[in-house]
Amino acid sequence: MKTKVIYPGTFDPLTNGHLDLIARASKLMDELVVAILRNSEKGEPLFTVPERAEMIHEATREFGNVSVATFDGLLVDFARSQKASAVLRGIRAISDYEYEFQMAMMNRKLDPELETLFMMPAEKYTYVSSRLIKGVFRLGGDVTALVPPLVVERLKDKTLATPHK
Ligand SMILES: Nc1ncnc2c1ncn2[C@@H]1O[C@H](COP(=O)(O)OP(=O)(O)OP(=O)(O)O)[C@@H](O)[C@H]1O
Ligand SMILES: [Mg+2]
Repeated sequence: MKTKVIYPGTFDPLTNGHLDLIARASKLMDELVVAILRNSEKGEPLFTVPERAEMIHEATREFGNVSVATFDGLLVDFARSQKASAVLRGIRAISDYEYEFQMAMMNRKLDPELETLFMMPAEKYTYVSSRLIKGVFRLGGDVTALVPPLVVERLKDKTLATPHK
């Protein structure tokens, strides 16, 4: 049977940590769907959903089995509609564990058939998060080693377009 896996998140924006996980997972799975959660509870995003999708699409072009989708509502419903057998999540540090454990258990409660897979990024990306990237970039910090080159470009475009955001 072919393994189709969903990698859900907000990806606002995609980082090298996300990309590291995508690269590792794409080798193991037949199909990987990077799924952007449309209505996240994180507050006002920096990039629109189409902007985020486009960046992921561009950055994952080299992998033949990675696609991009968007979803709303319950992850288990989306996974079922996609006929996916598992969900991929990343664990950076102990601090990720508690939340991820709860979500995995809740998702299992909602759909016992859906597995959650955890992967760890390369050590050099263990502290990278979208939130931190946005914060550092806003203050003029160099993030070029931590996000794909096209994300750096889009971050610059955003700052030029909305200097006070
Ligand atoms: N650097 C990273 N290494 C491994 N996994 C990561 C990394 N960054 C995010 N992930 C994982 O990717 C998934 C989607 O995460 P999410 O979209 O919240 O990204 P994030 O970088 O944590 O963004 P934010 O700072 O907005 O929460 C989660 O499972 C998260 O743990
Ligand atoms: Mg996060």
